[in-house]
Amino acid sequence: MLKNEWKNVGRNEICPCGSGRKYKKCCLKRQTPAAVDYKRYYKQKYDIRLKDPGEVEKIRSAGRLVVSALNDVESMIAPGVTTNDINRLVHGIAEKSGALCAPLNYRGFPKSVCTSVNEVICHGIPGEYALIDGDIINVDITYILDGYYADASKSFFVGSPSPEARRIVSASASCLLAAMDVLAPGNTIGDIGFAIQSLAESRGCSVVREFVGHGLGRTFHEPPQVPHFGNKGEGITLVPGMVFTVEPMINLGGADLFIAEDGWTAITRDRKLSAQFEQTFLITDDGYESLTPYDLSPFIG
Ligand code: MF3
Ligand code: CO
Ligand code: CO
Repeated sequence: MLKNEWKNVGRNEICPCGSGRKYKKCCLKRQTPAAVDYKRYYKQKYDIRLKDPGEVEKIRSAGRLVVSALNDVESMIAPGVTTNDINRLVHGIAEKSGALCAPLNYRGFPKSVCTSVNEVICHGIPGEYALIDGDIINVDITYILDGYYADASKSFFVGSPSPEARRIVSASASCLLAAMDVLAPGNTIGDIGFAIQSLAESRGCSVVREFVGHGLGRTFHEPPQVPHFGNKGEGITLVPGMVFTVEPMINLGGADLFIAEDGWTAITRDRKLSAQFEQTFLITDDGYESLTPYDLSPFIG
């Protein structure tokens, strides 16, 4: 059993060995615990579905399509391009690849991709807005391929970035990298939040609290929730087979937000810039694998 996990097992809780009995009636009195059946234990205790290699391969395939679409989006970003143009590109790629765009009609979301410009934190709805030199835009793509989801986003500069734009994009990319450093079995969800929050605040930036990373697989959002703030050693212990996103939304000013009239668009209360990078990760036996891998170093200035 992994180092942080024992302390989370209560006497009256389900036994980690997967017997289905209470811990106190089962492995509590053993010197050495029986082999832990994480698949059963994590489902019963946290409702987390650990993925088997076949499922991971399907998420990886969906992830390849997401990354390739993000690259295509990156190539088209320029002043004058509208967020509807981006929506058309992302939707067209799905159509010709046999994929579905997860956002479309998700809880009533009206478009195929989220496009979040400048002070928009996330869930921006594509429309007639034409990008202007100096804007930053986050494009968040989730495809469903063969029944499995993969979710990733990047923030792009439009034309030449302002110093503030560089600062917030660099900070948010660095936050995702800091999170990746602690993705390994035995570390906890709290370690992820702590790594992100520490880095963001050391740069004078703030972390959005209202939206979190999430498990995914056969559904868009499933346990666990992955807050981008927190304390070392707290929360669920990472184990191999977990698949979840990390997607820190980092603000140049305060953390507060409001939701626009459309019911979706999240905007910084102080109207200062916000940026985000997201990838889908698998916890492996010795660390992690990104299932939507792309290089973050170009964004770090
Ligand atoms: N892709 C977003 C995420 O990272 C979710 C978008 S939900 C939508 O979780 F409905 F706005 F598309
Ligand atoms: Co996500
Ligand atoms: Co996303």
